[in-house]
Amino acid sequence: MQVVEVKHPLVQHKLGLMRAKDISTMEFRTLTREVGSLLTYEATKDLELEEVEISGWNGPVKVQRIKGKKVTVVPILRAGLGMMDGVLEHIPSARISVVGIYRDEETLKPVPYFSKLAGDIQERLAIIVDPMLATGGSLIETINLLKSKGCTSIKCVVLVAAPEGIKALQEAHPDVELYCASVDDHLNEHGYIIPGLGDAGDKIFGTK
Ligand code: URA
Repeated sequence: MQVVEVKHPLVQHKLGLMRAKDISTMEFRTLTREVGSLLTYEATKDLELEEVEISGWNGPVKVQRIKGKKVTVVPILRAGLGMMDGVLEHIPSARISVVGIYRDEETLKPVPYFSKLAGDIQERLAIIVDPMLATGGSLIETINLLKSKGCTSIKCVVLVAAPEGIKALQEAHPDVELYCASVDDHLNEHGYIIPGLGDAGDKIFGTK
């Protein structure tokens, strides 16, 4: 599995701001979108181009155009919604495929409780967004779901990843790509990433 930790100074600076204890909801929400946008820029750097001829101001001109699969953004509820607009800034025509996953209290397995996917998802590149890759359970289940619908092209964009989650993802889906702003240290006994960002969903939505 390809894992890219984006070291761009803007990404690292903004992620640093997000780690502050007393950050406001507004600031955290804004930075989630901004870092999501910068990571998307990086995650799409290998999209294929084709040369086409168009009518320019001074006659025919050859220009580059993105070729191949169209995109669907896949926010994982609820925190993934905070990154969605960051992807759409660059790919405004993308379809949105929303997935909700809960954890069964008995089996502790992630179970999809909601999904509304682009009808032609098998023909699209799926960019899954979720701020925190902790155990990897939700992300792995989302990829299972997308693959079961015939999607073959998948990139995951997260803000912070735990090594435990990366390992689980690598074992379950070695064919996907992962982009993140940071691979952090470890997961604590409550499943939080350390140093991490705390509860990203609560911070984006202003809930507690
Ligand atoms: N989800 C979060 O919001 N934060 C973590 O650290 C882990 C999972």
